[in-house]
Amino acid sequence: MLLWLCVLALGLRARGDFPWDETQARDLSEGLQDLFGNISHLIEKGYPTDVFTMVSHKEWGGEAVGCSTPLTMPVDFLVTHHVPGLECHNQTMCSQRLWKLWAHHMHNNSWCDMAYNFLVGDDGRVYEGVGWNVQGMHTQGYNNISLGFAFFGTKEGHSPSPAALSAMEGLISYAVQKGHLSSKYVQPLLVKGENCLLPLQKASPKKACSNIIPWSAWEARETHCPKMNLLAKYVIIIHTAGKTCIMSDECCLLVQDIQSFFIDRLNSCDIGYNFLVGQDGVIYEGVGWNVQGSRAPGYNDIALGIAFMGTFLGTPPNTAALEAAQNLIQCAVDKGYLIPNYLLVGHSDIVNTLSPGQALYNIIKAWPHFKH
Ligand SMILES: *[C@@H]1O[C@H](CO)[C@@H](O)[C@H](O)[C@H]1NC(C)=O
Ligand SMILES: *[C@@H]1O[C@H](CO)[C@@H](O)[C@H](O)[C@H]1NC(C)=O
Ligand SMILES: *[C@@H]1O[C@H](CO)[C@@H](O)[C@H](O)[C@H]1NC(C)=O
Ligand SMILES: *[C@@H]1O[C@H](CO)[C@@H](O)[C@H](O)[C@H]1NC(C)=O
Repeated sequence: MLLWLCVLALGLRARGDFPWDETQARDLSEGLQDLFGNISHLIEKGYPTDVFTMVSHKEWGGEAVGCSTPLTMPVDFLVTHHVPGLECHNQTMCSQRLWKLWAHHMHNNSWCDMAYNFLVGDDGRVYEGVGWNVQGMHTQGYNNISLGFAFFGTKEGHSPSPAALSAMEGLISYAVQKGHLSSKYVQPLLVKGENCLLPLQKASPKKACSNIIPWSAWEARETHCPKMNLLAKYVIIIHTAGKTCIMSDECCLLVQDIQSFFIDRLNSCDIGYNFLVGQDGVIYEGVGWNVQGSRAPGYNDIALGIAFMGTFLGTPPNTAALEAAQNLIQCAVDKGYLIPNYLLVGHSDIVNTLSPGQALYNIIKAWPHFKH
C-alpha cells in the first residue's frame, strides 16, 4: 500500500543545456538509466511531437479541483516524478489507480488536490492533475516556479512504457510551445535510486542506534562536503520550519526535498543537518556523523545538528520523535561521536532564529546536559 506513495524525483535534462555527467549516469540504477536514456533519446530527436491524449480531471473521476494558487507562466523548472506501483495499462484501470492516489493526497495528506500538474499513465495517456495554471504540491521549494509531471502505472523498478515515454515527451514539448514552460527550462532534481521504500525495523526502538535510516536509503544526492575533524562537543536542536511528516513514505520524500532545497536554492553543499527526525519516530541521516552541517556558523565542526522536521512554535513534536532524538544522542555518545559531557543547546541559543520553536525549546530545556 505504501509502496506507491513514495515518489521518485528523477532528474532529466533539458534539451542540450546540460551535458549528461557520466558519474551521475553510473549511479543510476539500471531501470533509471534505461528511463533516462530513452527520454533523452526522445528529446534529442527534437521532432516537434505534441501529440498525446489528455484525460481530464473530471474524466478520470477526480472531483472539482480544490487548489487555486495560481502559477505564473512560463515557469523555468520542470520536475519529473515517478510514482511506482500503480500498475495499469488501459484508461479504466489507470483512472481507478489515479483516483486512489488522488484520494490519498486529499484525505491522508489533506492536500487541496492531486500533487502534480499532470500525470502520464503507462497506457500512454496524459491525466490532468491540477493543470497548467495552478501550483501543485509536488516538491517543496519548487511548487511556485515549476511544473510537476509524474509517471505512474509502472511496475516497481521498471521503466515507463514506450507509450508513456513518448506521451511525456509530447507533453513537455506542448508545454514549451504553449508558453507554460520556458524553452530554456531546467530540471533541477537528480535523485538516484528508485524509491523510498525503507527497510524500517520498528521492532527494536529501544536500542539507541536503531531506527536510523541511512543516507543511501532515502536516495540522497551525492555530495562532497567538509568533514568533521573533531569529536562533537555540542548537540544543537533545530526545527526545519517547514512541512512535517507522519508516515515514513512522506518523511522520506520530505528529506529528499529538504536536501534539494539546500543544494539548489540555498547553494549549500548538502542538507544542513547531521540528522533529521520525523513524526514517524524515525531518524533520517542527513550529512551524518562525519560531515559538518551548515546551520550554526562557528559550531559546525564541533556540533551535531539534529533537526525535527516541521514547525514547533506552538505544538511540540510527538513523543515518538522526541524519544528518537534522545536515543540518537545516546547513540552518539555510545559510538564515540560525541563527548560524554557534551552540552545541549537550542538553535536559538547560538543563532538569531526562532528555531527550534518555543514548544520544542521548552521540552529540551529539561533534557540532560542542557546548557543555560
Ligand atoms: C483494463 O485492464 C484490466 C487489468 O489489466 C483488465 O482487467 C480490464 O479488462 C481492462 N479493461 C479494458 C477495457 O481493456
Ligand atoms: C488514509 O485515510 C483513510 C481514511 O481516513 C484510512 O482508512 C487509511 O488507513 C489511510 N491510509 C494511510 C496510508 O494512512
Ligand atoms: C516562490 O515562493 C518563495 C517562497 O515562498 C518566494 O520567496 C518566491 O518569491 C516565490 N516565487 C514566485 C515566482 O512566486
Ligand atoms: C529503453 O531503451 C532500452 C535500450 O535502448 C530498451 O532496451 C528498452 O526497451 C527501452 N525501454 C522502453 C520502456 O522503451
